[in-house]
Amino acid sequence: MTQNRTVLVTGGAGFIGCALSAGLTASFGRVVALDNLHPQIHAHRTRPAALADGVELVVGDVTDAAVWDEVLPRVRPDVVIHLAAETGTGQSLAESTRHGMVNVVGTTQMMDALNRHGLPGRIVLTSSRAVYGEGAWRRADGVLFYPPQRTAAMVADGAWDFPDAEPVAMDARVVSPAPVSVYAATKLTQEHLLRVWGNALGVEIAIVRLQNVYGPGQSLSNPYTGILSLFARLARVGKTIPLYEDGAVRRDFVLIDDVASAVLAAATSDAVPATPLDIGSGEFQTIGTAASLIAEYYGAPAPQVTGKFREGDVRHAWADVTAAREVLGWAPRYNLAEGVRRLCDWIEQQPDVPPA
Ligand SMILES: NC(=O)c1ccc[n+]([C@@H]2O[C@H](COP(=O)([O-])OP(=O)(O)OC[C@H]3O[C@@H](n4cnc5c(N)ncnc54)[C@H](O)[C@@H]3O)[C@@H](O)[C@H]2O)c1
Repeated sequence: MTQNRTVLVTGGAGFIGCALSAGLTASFGRVVALDNLHPQIHAHRTRPAALADGVELVVGDVTDAAVWDEVLPRVRPDVVIHLAAETGTGQSLAESTRHGMVNVVGTTQMMDALNRHGLPGRIVLTSSRAVYGEGAWRRADGVLFYPPQRTAAMVADGAWDFPDAEPVAMDARVVSPAPVSVYAATKLTQEHLLRVWGNALGVEIAIVRLQNVYGPGQSLSNPYTGILSLFARLARVGKTIPLYEDGAVRRDFVLIDDVASAVLAAATSDAVPATPLDIGSGEFQTIGTAASLIAEYYGAPAPQVTGKFREGDVRHAWADVTAAREVLGWAPRYNLAEGVRRLCDWIEQQPDVPPA
């Protein structure tokens, strides 16, 4: 039973934190969110309406030891869900110190503060599919290999895929991480830090690697995250959605509801995953398919392939969710068509939709 227990959620006022909040208040006796209401996500820097009423919000920065020293003695969490992060993949190359500070030092500040004030039983970390980079591909002879990051020179003549090979699903049990962005390197560092620290001190560490999360509640003002929201903002004003590469880039778009149930399961399950768990929708889609669904919803023109390449984008990414099913008893419930409908319905209810 978790009813007499306390959960502390860093970054708990963000997209995933808000979606998770109702489930947490139903499962834990006390829920505290520690969040600095980062202006890139929280345009008005006020408590989000989507954060469940029962959640105590503490406004503070995870990189600040004094914040932890104030919060931990009065909260004493049994479980910590560590969501707070800088999340802009493209942005992370130009602002690597910010990413290093929040994602890496923010995590070590949390670890040190927990050491000072009392250890929780479990920490859940939301890592990212970004840690895999291009992931593993299989050659015709069956051998797995890890292709290097694609460069503009490689794709100049439209050879988007790695020749004579097929991509394989991301599955932490068989595919090793190979980050190709600063963001990804900081997320993998979070995993390593918590794993070695938790093993040494006897704190259970549950790591979930999330694919592309989307859906109602995602910040519409943050230009660095949320490709489906961006597509919707183009299509709703009748613009043509541009598709990079050949439009056949594969992604695993997982609806926020499915992510919330996976994180909740990771926080409350009896079993603790020994390896990171991959969380996705259970299938991949091409970016072209996702864009077409959104264009159809709005009656916008069909998406157009531009042949452009964005440095740092990986070609294909999708999860094998078998391990998450087995360990957490969790399963994704929503397909992309339903998720897109819910996302677009929600966007149309928003008072302020910024132009794309
Ligand atoms: N959304 C996705 O597609 C996705 C995919 C993979 C992994 N993740 C991971 O999930 C976690 C949550 O993502 P999200 O989509 O909810 O992001 P989000 O940006 O909506 O939420 C992050 C929250 O953290 C807060 N925050 C940022 N810096 C902070 C700091 N220094 N101190 C305290 N709070 C801080 C922000 O104010 C925000 O409320 C992140 O760790 C992210 O790396 C998200």
